[in-house]
Amino acid sequence: MKSLPSISMHFLIFLFFFLHPIPTLGSTVYDTSPTDYIRTSCSATLYPDICYTSLSGYANPVQQDPARLARIAIGVSLSKARRMASYVSNLTRETAYGADPQASAALHDCFSNMDDAVDEIHGSLRQMRRLVAPGSESFRFQMGNVQTWMSAALTDEETCTDGFEDVREGPLKTEVYERAVEVKKLTSNALALVNSYAEKAVSLSFVNGAKFTELT
Ligand SMILES: *[C@@H]1O[C@H](CO)[C@@H](O)[C@H](O)[C@H]1NC(C)=O
Repeated sequence: MKSLPSISMHFLIFLFFFLHPIPTLGSTVYDTSPTDYIRTSCSATLYPDICYTSLSGYANPVQQDPARLARIAIGVSLSKARRMASYVSNLTRETAYGADPQASAALHDCFSNMDDAVDEIHGSLRQMRRLVAPGSESFRFQMGNVQTWMSAALTDEETCTDGFEDVREGPLKTEVYERAVEVKKLTSNALALVNSYAEKAVSLSFVNGAKFTELT
């Protein structure tokens, strides 16, 4: 990435979107609507229904582009994780829970885990916005970062719910737990879409690489 002047970088990005948004991705291009494309892509995730409802509103920008779908899914999980962090942070300030040390500790840990998850998901989103053309070493490095950070975010979110295991049952526990599970599902789905894009990009890179060589 560093060795490329910014103009050729833009050119690469342009080529990346221009040369292979659709035709190299498979045979379903001509009879599939963007919403069908999202439904099909979501079937590769662990929570396909949530995947579809959270992403079908983005059919227009996504069209049939797996990179955009993955990027938007990351964005959706980021906004959910941010809201969760803010919600937990608010709860930690509510004096009612100060009296229950276990609940109070679980909330503080959960906030710190959610905060880390937000950073990791945000880092993934930034990386997805700067992806170079598939096929290069930089591309593999970038995708590896996104996969690593999204997995780390998922683990952090998991740690939040685990921390509530010993907390007394009640509305607080139930609500935090349910919200965290929601965030986890969106993060898991985003990671699955990242993984399937990374797989597709391997086959794409042959076509794109060949065209790129011809053009330069
Ligand atoms: C947290 O509290 C702030 C300030 O009271 C409020 O604006 C925000 O909406 C709350 N966040 C959530 C997720 O409830």
